[in-house]
Amino acid sequence: MSLFDHSSIQIDVLRSRAHNGRWAVVPPDVIPLTAADPDFPVALEIRKAMQDYLESGYLNYGPFSGLDSFKNSVARHYSLRKSCHFDPQDVLAVNSAAMGMYLVARYLLKPGEEAIIFDPVDFLFKKTLDTVGAHAVLCQLPQDGTLDLDALELCITPRTRMISLCNPHNPLGKVYDKATLFNLAQLAEKHGLWVMSDEIWSDILYDGRSYHSYAGVSDYAALHSFTVYGFSKTFGLAGLRIGAVMCKNAPVMQDFIEYSQVNSTIEGVSTLSQVGAEAALDEAWYWAESFVKHLQNNRDLAVRLLQNSGLLAPNNPEGTYVLFPKILNGQSSIDFTQQLLEKAKVAIVPGAERWFGPGADGHVRICFSTSREILEEGLHRILSQLD
Ligand SMILES: Cc1ncc(COP(=O)(O)O)c(C=O)c1O
Repeated sequence: MSLFDHSSIQIDVLRSRAHNGRWAVVPPDVIPLTAADPDFPVALEIRKAMQDYLESGYLNYGPFSGLDSFKNSVARHYSLRKSCHFDPQDVLAVNSAAMGMYLVARYLLKPGEEAIIFDPVDFLFKKTLDTVGAHAVLCQLPQDGTLDLDALELCITPRTRMISLCNPHNPLGKVYDKATLFNLAQLAEKHGLWVMSDEIWSDILYDGRSYHSYAGVSDYAALHSFTVYGFSKTFGLAGLRIGAVMCKNAPVMQDFIEYSQVNSTIEGVSTLSQVGAEAALDEAWYWAESFVKHLQNNRDLAVRLLQNSGLLAPNNPEGTYVLFPKILNGQSSIDFTQQLLEKAKVAIVPGAERWFGPGADGHVRICFSTSREILEEGLHRILSQLD
């Protein structure tokens, strides 16, 4: 039996545990292809490491910026797999990638200052800016996610301080190559801007692609960027609320750590979550690689089934496990998804402004981190809308 066979999925457990738009919050006859959260149980090595840690019976305060072993694992992961060297002291453990994004926005931006985000993009980008009182300036992306640096430069004003990059891009599935990132870094340098590079999806790459972290493309990028990494997508650890923020600019990182409130214990990350995340990177990489193979087959299946369907025109994601097809029957994404939920009993995410920005109009997002069988059934139900 493979790790990602249908039989490994425990729907009855998911029905009580998988929230955020998924099995626990939809009626029993509905298939949720909504929030990007795997349906598969996490790697045994992660469970074992957490069990062993608990077995000792001690759960004291850990080092405020994170366990040394956690910071080492994250730094090593980046050196090995993302063409970017971070030292362990460049890493801060945070409560989720979402929290990392928020802390970076709060650190870099004063109320009223501007940050450029792409449109469409995951709602967290705007949400974190709104939360700190900064203004989000939207830079349009085409459906294939290609960066137009001239269009980006036009969005820069004297109040711009940061560009927020999502690489790989949720929901468009674009993976930005080294040359694009280098050009982005040159633009940032020309205007004295910081970049927040959200790399939570950077392990989910298809067709043999390799990854280049933004912080590794130039000296300027290294010293004027914050990198956000997370464990929810690659390893299915969303419930542990664990992530990391990295910055190679040592004085800035020291200041950022102070500002983040970990030293006062107002902020800080569960040691148990760090132990689980560390085991994921050190011992469960084989699991992640096998997961990506499974996902690539799912991606291919989904694209094949939707292509020429006349209902949804799929993109072909280079990374991530979400598909972002265009609706072809003229319905709004809200009406389309509502009708699917009621009639076809499938839940997907509408391309509503609230979730992805105004540029998502006319699209839907379909998550495919499930078994081939569930995905196939869900897509057949969607296509049955044509009948
Ligand atoms: C681009 C992006 N950033 C951040 C997050 C949030 O991740 P976490 O669960 O670690 O907060 C997500 C989750 O969907 C995401 O897609």
